[in-house]
Amino acid sequence: MKAIEVKPDIYWVGAIDWAIRDFHGYITPNGTTYNNYLIIDDQVTLLDTVKHDFAEITIENIKSLTDPSKIKNIVINHIENDHVTSIDKIMELTPEATVYITQKGRQGLDRFFDTSNWDIKIVKTGDTLNIGKRTLLFIETPMLHWPDSMMTYIKEEKILISQDAFGQHLASSARFDDDFIQSASKVELEDSVIDYYANILMPFGQLIKNKIADIEKLGLEIEIIAPDHGIIWRKDPSKVINMYLDMADGKADLRVVILYDTMWQSTEQMTLPIMQGIKEEGIDVKVIKLRATPLSIAVKEFWRSRGCLVGSPTLNNNLFPTVGGLLTYLRGLRPKNRIVAAFGSYGWGGGAVKQIYEELKHMGLETVEPGIQVKYKPSPEDKQQCYDFGREFAIKVREYHKNFE
Ligand code: FEO
Repeated sequence: MKAIEVKPDIYWVGAIDWAIRDFHGYITPNGTTYNNYLIIDDQVTLLDTVKHDFAEITIENIKSLTDPSKIKNIVINHIENDHVTSIDKIMELTPEATVYITQKGRQGLDRFFDTSNWDIKIVKTGDTLNIGKRTLLFIETPMLHWPDSMMTYIKEEKILISQDAFGQHLASSARFDDDFIQSASKVELEDSVIDYYANILMPFGQLIKNKIADIEKLGLEIEIIAPDHGIIWRKDPSKVINMYLDMADGKADLRVVILYDTMWQSTEQMTLPIMQGIKEEGIDVKVIKLRATPLSIAVKEFWRSRGCLVGSPTLNNNLFPTVGGLLTYLRGLRPKNRIVAAFGSYGWGGGAVKQIYEELKHMGLETVEPGIQVKYKPSPEDKQQCYDFGREFAIKVREYHKNFE
């Protein structure tokens, strides 16, 4: 895709990765983009680079606008590989350029590249860079989502280059929110925001709220939010800010997701009466078999739902591996404001349900105990108990949800 004008003399020069389905283990069914931006001003300035596989594409996009040797400034907002690993190719074309980066970013840059001949300037929040008709303001955003992260605000244009924040893993020929909504749908765009937040930013809700408050205190007017992945927000940037604030406050739908796996279908047979009980209490419910679903999608559904049931058979006195993987992934994401319970089946010793609760309590989630266990295969009486368990859990979910209304 060619360079695209964001505003006069400010261009998206990034790349679309239509094919990627595994983004460092996070499944991306819709691909992604690596967005970077070029400002044609008295000092030509590049904001971020792209993943190394796409270096030639961004260089071609830059060449369609100017000679790359004219780039005087390269701002690196974040040093994760998907954004920084073509900087060496760009520096070869403009070796006199100055790189602007945070202190923590520099430490990473020095590990990734031989920077001994590069002119690198450390910036911090409040520092500015005048490039001619425009001024860049740097805003550090440590742990959103790496220690080095920052954003860059183009003052005269009211554009926030927001780096990973407000991004989505969404490959599309549309570059802007209004175009995407017209060609695809608002629901798909919002779903991509939730997916990205759940899998990347869930642990940082309070930091997100604080940073948005800091930006408001700085009195910055924002007309466009241009993230480094996915769609650029120009029609309604407040939409994605409000989505982030809501998610940081623990917003979820009044619904339940059942995340389970099974060996010989006993645990699976439990899910159906449980689901029926939840549904008949008037609460929407979704059932996800972990072995058939990428973890990132299971976690997105977890994040959308106020309540979650985790089901596992006992295997060798332990959790079923996919359930163990889910709980390990979730623990790292530090979920909050969700109510949870466990169920499962066993042949002789049992133990999976107890282990699920240990993990869920370790995460600090609201638990409903003791859950429900079935030996060998659910009998009709067991199924009735599963149904009752579903109804009782749904009632608890509804009560708990009131705390967030
Ligand atoms: Fe898109 Fe943190 O990298």
